[in-house]
Amino acid sequence: MTTASVPADLDAHLKANYSNALDELFAFLRIPSVSARSEHAADCRSAATWLSDRLTHAGFTSALMETPGHPIVLAEWRGAGAEAPTLLIYGHYDVQPAEPLELWTSPAFEPQVRDGRIYARGSVDDKGQLYLHVKALEAHLAVRGTLPVNVIVLAEGEEEVGSENLEQFLEANRERLRCDGVVISDSTMFAPGTPSILSSLRGLAYVEINVRGSNSDLHSGMYGGAVVNPAMALAQILSTMHDAQGRVAIDGFYDDVKAWPEHVREQMRTLPFNEEEFRHEVGSPALGGEAGYSVLERLWTRPTCEVNGLLSGYTGEGAKTVLPAVAMAKVSCRLVPDQDPRVVEKLIAAHVARVAPPGVIATVTALHGGRPWRAELSGPLHEAGVFALEAAFGKTPVVTGEGGSIPVVGDFERILGAPVLLMGFGLPGENAHAPDEWISEENFRQGMRAAATLIDQYAVNR
Ligand code: BES
Ligand code: MN
Ligand code: MN
Repeated sequence: MTTASVPADLDAHLKANYSNALDELFAFLRIPSVSARSEHAADCRSAATWLSDRLTHAGFTSALMETPGHPIVLAEWRGAGAEAPTLLIYGHYDVQPAEPLELWTSPAFEPQVRDGRIYARGSVDDKGQLYLHVKALEAHLAVRGTLPVNVIVLAEGEEEVGSENLEQFLEANRERLRCDGVVISDSTMFAPGTPSILSSLRGLAYVEINVRGSNSDLHSGMYGGAVVNPAMALAQILSTMHDAQGRVAIDGFYDDVKAWPEHVREQMRTLPFNEEEFRHEVGSPALGGEAGYSVLERLWTRPTCEVNGLLSGYTGEGAKTVLPAVAMAKVSCRLVPDQDPRVVEKLIAAHVARVAPPGVIATVTALHGGRPWRAELSGPLHEAGVFALEAAFGKTPVVTGEGGSIPVVGDFERILGAPVLLMGFGLPGENAHAPDEWISEENFRQGMRAAATLIDQYAVNR
């Protein structure tokens, strides 16, 4: 039996204004704020301006904060007074590139509802999940003229390109951003109708490996056999990165890996998860990975080392007999507590230097990184999250883990000293970063109700 419920006044307002909320989300989704592409810089700025205007309209004091990259939206409502606690809500208004465009059923930046799903680039990652908080806050101010806690909304435009300017922004604005808790909706629920609190994120150490041989490409008949081939050398290097058990074979890689808390592993084991269904969904002939771990453990609790891209030699139509002069690989490691991306980058560089065959020069360049994170799963914010999700969905949330990364989460804890609550409203199969990205309309609606409830319950718990 559940006793938690959504406050009736807020619930009525959200219900009455639902079609406005949807229209506004559509307007947000129509702005192609692709952070990775310089030709979309103006669109990123319009998305930021649009969001800031909506927050102003809701009753916040909002402004764009300039960074060397895309602007940050910073909105504040401090009417609860200096004695009251402050919550910070974080999200990102930037989106991944929409390519390949031809694989979308409806155009990426022309949102469409089909079968209860809102299809558009950014619908779930993260505009829909960010905007549901804005509407929840607006409901409080519209119905009651006040909020029981102070609220800061911080939305960045560079999450999908590594949040390069956010850490510096947090450091520089530490006092202004001081808060008692951070709330983020940028993740998925375990299953439809199963609200979820995310207990961990993996970190990331992303490098590029360049292998250079000869001065230029060579005739593969005139030189082949006497000159070391960089493509083969790179393949050799990559083949040394795992042992036969699927463990990462880079010296020191596991040194800082902490054991996973037994009670969290226990909770994970209770989640209904069918590995064969998962295999079927991804479409691979068989699953792989580190021996001795379940699929969920591999995804959520174990570090990895993966090739993300490979480039060398002739890849056009037909055959060209050539020895490439260079080869390149993009390699990323997902990390778990307490691995440090900087340390792992160095370990990869040392490993490559050790195993690279003579006759080529191999270099490793760090691209970006993020720290792993694990939640405490206790305290007033966590309890308020449990209550709010139970109120909205009528079901106690499960605790999940995550294989992806939100690098800034660790920074929030480290720089602002505040606990982070991750309550996501995405769903498995939502196609984030892929064609036909969608958010469930039901979850957008329930997300607003949960977000509105969270604010009240946090004020009570404190
Ligand atoms: N929202 C995602 C991360 C995510 C996905 C968290 C699913 C939980 C569940 C975020 O926008 C993202 O894509 N992060 C990148 C980070 C990278 C660009 C540094 C990732 O995980 O690849
Ligand atoms: Mn995201
Ligand atoms: Mn993303």
